[in-house]
Amino acid sequence: MIFEKNILCIGAGYVGGPTMAMIAYKCPQYRVTVVDINPERIAQWNSDELPIYEPGLYEVVKASRDRNLFFSTDIEKGIIESEIIFVSVNTPTKTFGVGAGMAADLQYWEKTARQILQCAKTPKIIVEKSTLPVKTALAMERILNSENKGIHFDVLSNPEFLAEGTAIKDLEKPDRVLIGSSLTDSGLKARDELVEIYANWVTTDNIITSNIWSSELSKLVANAFLAQRISSINSISSLCEETDADISEVAHAIGMDCRIGNRFINASVGFGGSCFKKDILNLVYLCRHYGLNEVADYWESVVKINDYQKERFVYNMLTAMFNTLAGKKICLLGFAFKANTGDTRETPAITIAQKLIDENAELVISDPQALKNAKADLKDMGGKISYVEDPYKAASGTHAIAVMTEWDLYKELDYDKIYQSMNKPAFIFDGRNILDHKKLFGIGFNVFPIGKPSMTHFD
Ligand code: UDX
Ligand code: ADP
Repeated sequence: MIFEKNILCIGAGYVGGPTMAMIAYKCPQYRVTVVDINPERIAQWNSDELPIYEPGLYEVVKASRDRNLFFSTDIEKGIIESEIIFVSVNTPTKTFGVGAGMAADLQYWEKTARQILQCAKTPKIIVEKSTLPVKTALAMERILNSENKGIHFDVLSNPEFLAEGTAIKDLEKPDRVLIGSSLTDSGLKARDELVEIYANWVTTDNIITSNIWSSELSKLVANAFLAQRISSINSISSLCEETDADISEVAHAIGMDCRIGNRFINASVGFGGSCFKKDILNLVYLCRHYGLNEVADYWESVVKINDYQKERFVYNMLTAMFNTLAGKKICLLGFAFKANTGDTRETPAITIAQKLIDENAELVISDPQALKNAKADLKDMGGKISYVEDPYKAASGTHAIAVMTEWDLYKELDYDKIYQSMNKPAFIFDGRNILDHKKLFGIGFNVFPIGKPSMTHFD
């Protein structure tokens, strides 16, 4: 079959895999190939056990795989055969040298740019999908056009706004698709080609364009604003615990103001995920680079409050459980950074686990999708840690349960049965405020929600 376009994506991760699967699904007239340096990952994408858990993803992959969606390790062939290349490789926070702990590590990104340059024989449109610091596209264009090979490259910024757990829904009906380009004739032509791809299923009103720097910056700012809402509500949750106000009532009351809105104001043990912290630190680094220290401090405080929320959670556990956790068995219900994903990158559960191990507690970790990642995350932590998928078995014989992830299944457990199997006095720390606290108290638990009065049987 002759395809209208040949699209390549370099990087088959949480962003590249689902995004390309959706393009292939919606556009059978295009050939979409996803390549990665990791052969194991590619083998998983080609199997019935996809490398990531995402509701609805398997169906979308299955419908297009080997029809017009292909997963491969042959990066060179992919580059040669395609006209449009999405780049979706990892851009973690730098761990070394200048900007360590703050700036984005661009080594994978630059390697990709150099590989494209080395292999390309015809002009290409390069699309930044990974979240990158402002002006990366410019750097990429300079690298790509450095060898005077007589091949023209246009670089576009097209940040991905999907959230894990709802990726398929977000890709199918995005709030907006943002495409940044340079405003030259060739840049605008490249932009229009990308618009044409999305217009296969997204209404053109929802496809917006901007200059390339606005597009790169918008992604960082969107994540910073979302994270800021969570840190704002979490900061108030600590005040609620001191004053007997109830954070759910406060959130409900402020959220009904349509200027504020009711989404993203659920108090929690803290936000996690691969993006929020990394992107805010990136923004902070950029601001400091330009001497905007007040602005940098302002955004950095969003991360500080998130760290404080996790510390506070463990401190509350310690004080509630008679100031010692040593030798006590604690069940973490959930390990993923949010429900409906197996992803554990930056999950608050890692920090909580570390702090509990520091107190010499013994941990039993339960999660329906994230145990494999949890084991990898905690393998060097030391301490006594076991991994048990069945929540009833995980909680049995423990002194306390701490809810880390808002999985629906935790709302429906038989807590009477769980209480019977636990050490007494039994404690429950609901880091997501998803459980029926009054009912748990009635069963006999000492209950510690986030931002609400605690309920104990000790008066
Ligand atoms: C985020 C952005 O939402 C998405 O647009 C971007 O493309 C990538 O980063 P993601 O990290 O997948 O997506 O998940 P998100 O739903 O934003 O949740 C992030 C964290 O915030 C999770 O740990 C979640 O549990 C927490 N959260 C979210 C809260 O604690 N309270 C809330 O009200 C909402
Ligand atoms: P994200 O959440 O941004 O998608 P992931 O870490 O899930 O990030 O995915 C990034 C993918 O990019 C990984 O599968 C990694 O193996 C791949 N990758 C990194 N560098 C390269 C490279 N130079 N060529 C091809 N793939 C790469």
